[in-house]
Amino acid sequence: MAILPILQYPDERLHKVAQKVEHIDQTTRKLVRDMAETMYSAPGIGLAATQVDKHIRLIVIDISETHDDLKVFINPELLDSQGEKVNEEGCLSVPGIYEKVSRAEFVTVRAQDEHGKSFTLQAEGLLAVCIQHEMDHLLGRVFVERLSHLKQTRIRAKLKKQRRETL
Ligand code: NI
Repeated sequence: MAILPILQYPDERLHKVAQKVEHIDQTTRKLVRDMAETMYSAPGIGLAATQVDKHIRLIVIDISETHDDLKVFINPELLDSQGEKVNEEGCLSVPGIYEKVSRAEFVTVRAQDEHGKSFTLQAEGLLAVCIQHEMDHLLGRVFVERLSHLKQTRIRAKLKKQRRETL
């Protein structure tokens, strides 16, 4: 397994739209393992392939505190979404920034697992937020881009400053 470098906002490659995974094979499963390891070591609760510069429709999520409930979503599709809720979100591509974002409260998603088996999942709470956040990445959208332009400008300035300080 390997820890992969995570693209940092505002890297333009975060805006690429991910392509459907046509063949789920050993290469896909290796990427799943590497992405899981990358997410756990960060640590984070979700990672989209886009964030590791692989532009395919693949997401890993684990919201458990014990890091033993890995969920893999390949070619995820949102079948239904209900309600609305504001939650504070963060992102491994936007370190140190936490902002309130409005999303659906309940979602139903259909996807394939790492063996190509199709499944449908109903989610709420943190899992629902996480699924929507990661599916946005696959469309080339970073959560801070849902905020006002003023906030985005402030966030970019703050990140620049943070990066200067850690050099
Ligand atoms: Ni993210």
